[in-house]
Amino acid sequence: MIQPQVMSRDWHALREPLDDRARAIELAWEFARMVPSRPHILDLGAGLGANVRHLLPRLGRMIQDWTLMDTDAAILGGVAERMQRWAHELGWGMSRTTADGTVGELVLFGDDMRSRLTLVQQDMSTDLHDLGIQRHDGVAGNAFFDRISAEWLDHFVIELTASGLPPVLATCVQDGRMLWRPEDPDDGMVLELAAAAARRDFGFGPPLGDQAATALVAKLEAAGYRLDGARSDWRLSGVRSRQAHLDLVDLLASQAEAHDPAMSDHIAAWRERRRDAVTRAELTVGHADILARR
Ligand SMILES: C[S@@+](CC[C@H](N)C(=O)[O-])C[C@H]1O[C@@H](n2cnc3c(N)ncnc32)[C@H](O)[C@@H]1O
Repeated sequence: MIQPQVMSRDWHALREPLDDRARAIELAWEFARMVPSRPHILDLGAGLGANVRHLLPRLGRMIQDWTLMDTDAAILGGVAERMQRWAHELGWGMSRTTADGTVGELVLFGDDMRSRLTLVQQDMSTDLHDLGIQRHDGVAGNAFFDRISAEWLDHFVIELTASGLPPVLATCVQDGRMLWRPEDPDDGMVLELAAAAARRDFGFGPPLGDQAATALVAKLEAAGYRLDGARSDWRLSGVRSRQAHLDLVDLLASQAEAHDPAMSDHIAAWRERRRDAVTRAELTVGHADILARR
């Protein structure tokens, strides 16, 4: 799995266009059909707000409310600047009601739209019962659900059930498939070490990781949801994806090396070969999108 030790703003910025291209548009539209005319959506592990930027235009509602929940104050602190740039690109305005920018409220407005984004800094691993799902019409999470534990998922499903089973859109859930064409003899070694390094606890308990999508489907179905799914794999090839591909090679090499420093020469040689071949190779990173509805 790809799991940086520190979720930097650069990493968030890197993955946003990859996720945007990979995500299953039909599930987003289906989610949109399930929420009311003035929806209030909870975005779990919101990061810099990429999920809001993806979904807000696709919900097609003039007035929307969003709660962006994340534990990382530094990342949340970057949401306003990123949203401001996005709003500008779309010809919208933005106002904010906080001084420090880490928690508070942003309002995006245009001729025919107005959306309020409330930023909430919260460690969801400890405050699960305070997610406030019942105050929302839908729950979304992009690149979030592969870090939760089986125990946290059980609690989450209890909360959803108590809230009347609102629709849940879990997107870009890593499923562990990672494959280069053509292969390098050391791909497997590096991926195994990197995966071992990524199996760290995010505070939720032992992460479900590659099993998250399967576990989500099983638990949500058992709770009474109907499930739809689609693949949302990243495909990196050629010049267009060059920088993201290089960054991922570097990230995997550093994860692998952190896990087994004794292999550092081997890993460094792999990294060089992979960097040299970057525009000739195709990298697939497996993800799943899941939509759960009553
Ligand atoms: C891979 S990032 C995805 C961010 C964003 N959804 C996106 O699509 O770019 C995962 C996010 O989950 C957040 N996160 C991890 N553990 C958390 C916790 N215990 N409580 C709340 N958020 C958490 C991280 O801070 C990070 O912003």
